[in-house]
Amino acid sequence: MKTNLFYFSATGNSLVVAKDIAAKLPNTQIFSIPQVINQRIDLNAEIIGIIYPVYYGGMPRIIIDFINRLEPGNIKYLFAVCTCGAFPAGSLLQTQKLLRLKNIALNAGFSIQMPGNYLVRYGAIAGKKQKDQFAKAKMKIDVIVSIIQNQQNNKIEASNHLFNMLVESMYHSSFPKFPTLDRNFTIDERCNSCQVCEKVCPVQNIKMVDNRPTWQGNCEHCLACIQWCPAKAIQYGKQTTNRKRYHHPEIKVKELYR
Ligand SMILES: Cc1cc2nc3c(=O)[nH]c(=O)nc-3n(C[C@H](O)[C@H](O)[C@H](O)COP(=O)(O)O)c2cc1C
Ligand code: SF4
Ligand code: SF4
Repeated sequence: MKTNLFYFSATGNSLVVAKDIAAKLPNTQIFSIPQVINQRIDLNAEIIGIIYPVYYGGMPRIIIDFINRLEPGNIKYLFAVCTCGAFPAGSLLQTQKLLRLKNIALNAGFSIQMPGNYLVRYGAIAGKKQKDQFAKAKMKIDVIVSIIQNQQNNKIEASNHLFNMLVESMYHSSFPKFPTLDRNFTIDERCNSCQVCEKVCPVQNIKMVDNRPTWQGNCEHCLACIQWCPAKAIQYGKQTTNRKRYHHPEIKVKELYR
């Protein structure tokens, strides 16, 4: 039985989920969505999975774009996993709706809580708390694997309806602004021109000009650049200077290079 998993990840949480599922399911390949989005997407497998982080209670732009490019063909079983810092809100329901428009069924939708990476609002949580969340995430992955390997239909997980409605309005007002939010990034004197930010950006939105990163106004707002900068030289507005950066400890930055 063949499984193809497609993931998007800025700080590694969703990549770890993809890798953990792949390690437990024989004959599973994982594909980075930013790398395959402009190619023919290989849906020739019994099980297809889409794994992504929740943004403002909804889906990242690149996931919407990815789903819009899918050619339904004969997908037999499709599941999605969203990773979130606190709550999935209605993001998997949004995924289900979008897939339905393409006549594709979402057979199961799972959410996994992971350390939040929204540095714009908060820094990384303490190491002990991170470890607890990783342990719980691994347990949930066992449950997910047992459901998907039997290709069972399962519920689409979501927060409560009223809460989702509130968050949805926040998502719809913030989402169109994402591409140009990169104007809030600045670099300080610690930048050593290492180019990590340029390489880790999933959408090639950073170009080095005179050995300095410059943002191009087509941002996913994923925060990979600011979280992975080894010199902590990137700031977002005025609040991030002293905030602890986050990325999943099992992932090396090179695994996320486009
Ligand atoms: C722009 C943005 C918005 C986010 N919004 C939410 C949110 O609404 N709810 C939540 O629980 N986590 C939110 N997060 C946190 C991420 O969903 C979470 O940390 C995720 O696991 C990151 O996955 P990654 O490491 O694969 O990129 C947000 C993160 C970013 C960058
Ligand atoms: S990752 Fe940081 S140090 Fe390296 S080029 Fe980018 S801003 Fe400069
Ligand atoms: S510029 Fe930074 S925040 Fe924007 S998409 Fe690239 S890595 Fe993500």
